[in-house]
Amino acid sequence: MDSFLPSPDCDTISKTYNGQIDSHLVQKTNERCREILPNLPRGKGWMTEHLVQYQGVWLTPNVALKGLMWVQGHFKPRSTDIFLATFPKTGTTWLKALTFATINRTRYGFADHPLLTTVPHGCLPFLEACPNDLDGFPSPRLLSTHIPYTLLPNSMTVNQSCRFAYICRDPKDVLVSKWLFMNKLRPKELAPISLEEAFELFCQGISHYGPYWDHVLGYWKASLETPEKVLFLKYEELKEEPSVVVKRLGEFLGHPFSLEEESKGVVEEIVKLCSFENLSNLEVNKSSVLKLSTQIIVDNRHFFRKGKVGDGRSYLTDEMIKRINEITSEKLLGSGLVFGS
Ligand code: A3P
Repeated sequence: MDSFLPSPDCDTISKTYNGQIDSHLVQKTNERCREILPNLPRGKGWMTEHLVQYQGVWLTPNVALKGLMWVQGHFKPRSTDIFLATFPKTGTTWLKALTFATINRTRYGFADHPLLTTVPHGCLPFLEACPNDLDGFPSPRLLSTHIPYTLLPNSMTVNQSCRFAYICRDPKDVLVSKWLFMNKLRPKELAPISLEEAFELFCQGISHYGPYWDHVLGYWKASLETPEKVLFLKYEELKEEPSVVVKRLGEFLGHPFSLEEESKGVVEEIVKLCSFENLSNLEVNKSSVLKLSTQIIVDNRHFFRKGKVGDGRSYLTDEMIKRINEITSEKLLGSGLVFGS
C-alpha cells in the first residue's frame, strides 16, 4: 500500500495552480479557444459576466472552456488514473478529503495529517484547472474534474480503465450553495446575482458545467454500464452513513479496509478527520486562500458553509421548489435515479 502515494505532493499542486508550470500545448489550446469563442452562444454568468455554451455544456470562457479543450485535445490519461468527478457544490471538497485520507491512510498519522494544514483542494488538483503537462506526476494519479462524463475523451472513458468516483446532491441544495458561493466570488464591479435570477438560470441549465441534470445522468448511466469504472455516490447518503460510504470508496479505489483496520476504528477516524465540523474549524480553512488558477483565488472558508442536507429549501419559495422538483422528475424519468438517501 505504501506505493499508493498522493500524486503529486502538495507543493507541486500549488505550483501548478499558480501557473508556474507551462507548456506549448497550453498556448495552442488558448489560441484555439480565442478562435472559437466569438461564435459560441452566451448566457449570463454567475461568477463571471458570461458563460458560453460549448458541446452542450455551459462554461466560463477563460478558465473552464480552456480547461475542457485542453483535456479533450492534449491530456494523456493512464489506466491507473483515478478521477473524482463532481458538479460544483455537490460535495467536491468533502470527497477530495475522504479520498485523499483513504488512499494515504498508512502514510500519514491522524494527529499530523496534511489535511489538518492544507485545504482538500490543495491535496488533490483539478485536472482541467492545471493547464500543464501532468506527465511528471507519479502513478497512480489522483485528480478531480467537473467535466461531464459525455464530454470526456474516449482515451479516458473507453480506451483506458481509468476510474471515476462521482458524487451528486439534491438540486435545490446545489442551486442555493452555488448561488451563495458564486456571489462571494463575483467581481465587485458586477451587481450581485439575485436568487430569482440564479434559479431561472439553473432551471434553464445555464450554470457552470450545467445543465445539472445532464451532468448527473451522464455519470449515473456510466455507473450502470461500467460499475467497476464509475462509482456513483450521493451527498445525502454520505451524510447519513459516512462509514458505509467510505468503505465502499475504499473498495472501489482498490484499497479495501481490512477487518483489523475496521476493528481499530480507522474508517471512523477518516470520517472524523474529514467531517464538516473538523475541517471547517481548522485555521487553514478559516483564514488561508487557494489559488485555483491565475484568475481564481478563493478564501478557503468559502468551501465550508453549512454542510447540511435540505438547507436549500429554506431559501426557495414553494413555487420554486415545485418547479425544480418537476424538472427533476421529468429529467430523471426512466433512469432509475432518485435524489436523496
Ligand atoms: P453548503 O453550501 O450547502 O453548505 P463543493 O465542495 O462541491 O464546492 O461543495 C460545497 C458544499 O459542500 C457546501 O455546501 C459545503 O458547506 C459542503 N461541504 C464542504 N465540506 C464538507 C464536509 N466535510 N462535509 C459535508 N459538507 C461539506
